[in-house]
Amino acid sequence: MDYTAQIEAAKEHFGKLLADQLKRVEEMKAQGGFVDYSKLDTIKIGVCGGDGIGPAITKQAQRILEYLLADEVKTGKVEFRVIDGLTIERRVAENAAIPADVLEELKQCDVILKGPTTTPRKGDPWPNVESANVAMRKALDLFANVRPVRIPEQGIDWTFYRENTEGAYAIGSKGCHVTEDLGVDFTVVTSQGCDRIIRAAFEFAKANGKTRVTAVTKANIIKTTDGKFLDTFREIAKDYPDITADDWYIDIMTAKLIDENRRRDFQVVVLPNLYGDIITDEAAEFQGGVGTAGSANIGKKYAMFEAIHGSAPRMVNEGRDKYADPCSVIRAGAMLLAHIGYNKEADLLYKALDICTITEKKYVITGRDTGVTGEKFADYIMETIAGLK
Ligand code: IPM
Ligand code: MG
Repeated sequence: MDYTAQIEAAKEHFGKLLADQLKRVEEMKAQGGFVDYSKLDTIKIGVCGGDGIGPAITKQAQRILEYLLADEVKTGKVEFRVIDGLTIERRVAENAAIPADVLEELKQCDVILKGPTTTPRKGDPWPNVESANVAMRKALDLFANVRPVRIPEQGIDWTFYRENTEGAYAIGSKGCHVTEDLGVDFTVVTSQGCDRIIRAAFEFAKANGKTRVTAVTKANIIKTTDGKFLDTFREIAKDYPDITADDWYIDIMTAKLIDENRRRDFQVVVLPNLYGDIITDEAAEFQGGVGTAGSANIGKKYAMFEAIHGSAPRMVNEGRDKYADPCSVIRAGAMLLAHIGYNKEADLLYKALDICTITEKKYVITGRDTGVTGEKFADYIMETIAGLK
């Protein structure tokens, strides 16, 4: 068989991808520092419900943030903007991961609270448009996906720094079928991309009194990209002599997280995109499942906070979206508050969440009419905050 034509077509495709990635490298080189929210006249908070149960639960989180920031909204220091249109129907109609006008509105904000969005997969009734989450992380260059998991009674206090714009995700939707029989995907790594996520992890450790940062790769097998990540980690670790830096391979790390004698030792974990995706679901499971976790997507200019569960379209079809649990996106809202400098309000919200979901549990959410609605639960959280003030 002569495959010359197919190989040439694949090379051309690959060439375009490389050009795009090199452009990204130049953009990263030109990037400034992190925004200082205290210096902004108005902090614009975009509330983007997404689809499925997203709008219902995100609305409840917004109510709580508006309650906590009531004074700031009055003085104009904080402004909320509701951004509709990040729905699977509109994305399909426009064949875009994020419709252009929605992206424009997002870019007018400083921080975004985002509900879940439907990611089509093969076999779904939708065309295979790229995940809106992934597209937003890329479009707003939200390179650090920060996912904390805390279970105080078990001595677990982990913070995962998942790289969010590179690795298997950078051009994950742009692999190619070279021939009918040969498919190829690409994994991407850059010096700038490794540097910024690894430094962010060490800086977090330093600022929060953490004594250990762990890198997780599969550098023994994925030698170029994971190898670069690990080399960069070892270099940067030298700048933080007071912090223990160690590294594990993803397979054994996955096992060690369930080893009760070892797992308490982990503190801050920094890892490439796909490993971070997988291990943060495992980690969240110890805390009560992905529905209990919040996730911060942080870049230098923008930051986005989201629930890490899916959009549960079935709940909407069965008319149960009002019973959907808003706690994950509310927790994301607490992370947002802390990120923009409202630490006192964030702490109040974390405390209220603990009371309402763990210690007191006056109301429970079951996802059906056997439990209370998200609205009622948000009221409960606000009453609890009022009692704490
Ligand atoms: C997550 C999710 C997303 C990801 C999906 C929904 C695209 O699993 O935020 O971890 O793979 O990053
Ligand atoms: Mg995931």
